[in-house]
Amino acid sequence: MSERTLAIIKPDAVKKNTIGDIIARYDKAGLRPVAIRMMKLSKSTAEGFYAVHKARPFFDSLSTFMSSGPVVVLVLQGDNAIKKNRELMGATDPAKAEAGTIRKAHGANIEFNAVHGSDSSETAKFEIGYFFPEMDLVG
Ligand code: CMP
Repeated sequence: MSERTLAIIKPDAVKKNTIGDIIARYDKAGLRPVAIRMMKLSKSTAEGFYAVHKARPFFDSLSTFMSSGPVVVLVLQGDNAIKKNRELMGATDPAKAEAGTIRKAHGANIEFNAVHGSDSSETAKFEIGYFFPEMDLVG
């Protein structure tokens, strides 16, 4: 079933010039970008995006990191896009990520982990709407 997911290439990965490599991995996996936006998040925008993690001890540090430099926000479309993108990313902690995954290749630790991907269809709906009005999705 074709579906959409939200991906973010995080500030650590942008700084390391890995945007092209990461987008090539989406391409090869059949995840077609239907919207792409490069932006620098304010801290409050990052906090709103990660509101579900508000009570976690890492919330402040995560929001500070996510607003520390430019990110690339994408909507990816394809069969089982949510699950496929999570497989492509690998485990949240790059040390536990499988060989061949984006986080294994480009993540440094559980916070600086190169990419974000929606974890369910409900989350995807919220996250896509957080950054893109429906009319900006070209798919
Ligand atoms: P992400 O997939 O963007 O979703 C939430 C983020 O919180 C996660 O990737 C990590 O970057 C971060 N995160 C999750 N767990 C921890 C943790 N224990 N310590 C620091 N950051 C974390």
